[in-house]
Amino acid sequence: MKRTAKRFTLATAATAGLALALAGCAGGGAGAPAGGGDTEAPEDITVGVAMPTETSERWIADGDAVKAGLEEAGYTVDLQYAADDIPTQQQQIDQMITKGADILIVASIDGTALANQLQAAADQGVPIIAYDRLINGTENVDFYVTFDNYNVGVQQATSLLTGLGILDESGAETGETGPFNIELFAGSLDDNNAHFFWQGAMDTLQPYLDNGTLVVPSGQTDIEQAATLRWLQETAQKRMEDLLTSTYDGGAKELHGVLSPYDGLSRGIITALQNAGYGPDQASGLPIVTGQDAEIASVKLIADGVQYSTIFKDTRKLAEQAVEAAKAYAAGEEPEANDTETYDNQVKVVPSYLLESDIVVAENIESLLVDSGYWTAEEIEKGQSD
Ligand code: GAL
Repeated sequence: MKRTAKRFTLATAATAGLALALAGCAGGGAGAPAGGGDTEAPEDITVGVAMPTETSERWIADGDAVKAGLEEAGYTVDLQYAADDIPTQQQQIDQMITKGADILIVASIDGTALANQLQAAADQGVPIIAYDRLINGTENVDFYVTFDNYNVGVQQATSLLTGLGILDESGAETGETGPFNIELFAGSLDDNNAHFFWQGAMDTLQPYLDNGTLVVPSGQTDIEQAATLRWLQETAQKRMEDLLTSTYDGGAKELHGVLSPYDGLSRGIITALQNAGYGPDQASGLPIVTGQDAEIASVKLIADGVQYSTIFKDTRKLAEQAVEAAKAYAAGEEPEANDTETYDNQVKVVPSYLLESDIVVAENIESLLVDSGYWTAEEIEKGQSD
């Protein structure tokens, strides 16, 4: 890996040498020991944080939590949101590098579109931490903090099966054989996570599709057919409307469940379903709709019996891991990985720290989300269902 020092020198082949910068050892060569000289103040370390969009509240929470954690450690933070626009994100990262960022934390929009920026960063000895979404096709990604994304997909599909009554609360089969009509949604194909969510979900649903318990009347069972570019709510709503027209007699035919991989999509899907006359809630025939991210608008819908489930990924913990990784680089060390096999970005397997997620349904909103302080009972009570 090519790492030409910017204002500091290499500590090890794999580390950018921030420790030496902190220790003021500008003259040391590769392998030179850290230490000695004037210690650079933490505020002189700038961490560039590139986030994809502010249209989804989870990324705002992520950005805020990462910034707060880095500032608590004393670092200077350059936090940017890119309005889900790839050139904007490229430009923001270019600027972070020009302005002298020492470490980058990047949640990409398109995981394949940042190779030039990351090469420039690597040329300056800047360690790059991929945040939540893997950056593909480049050797210049040093570490990855995320959740067990395959398992998130398993959890989404499991909650669909539970909601339909095929599995009970303990995950055991009830003997219910349907058949149930379902439709499938996937995320944005340029987001590596979308493929993991889909794979985990489809591996879980496949036995029930094979034995006829589940049927996809539209026949749209490929990720390309189910994909939702940029994870846009209105795109999911439009696809659901089209499916209802093409396959469900505009709402007259029964639809029992929808696999949705993200709360924003879930709300678009629910709007389409309600507009076609389903529901308005599960008790009155709204299909089981899954989700992800425990966004407040969806948590409110779950509490109200409208959306069935979501997946809680505690972004506070993710932010904490990103901050830990940044601290490790600043100290000239490698961050601690708990997975060194799963995330192959087509150039290398990126050392990763994976966090666990939880299925949220109405019954455990309080224990998972309120007791942990993620949302208050008042926020859920007042949450807007858009
Ligand atoms: C994914 C992320 C999900 C969800 C989605 C849409 O990359 O892992 O949690 O937020 O983007 O923003």
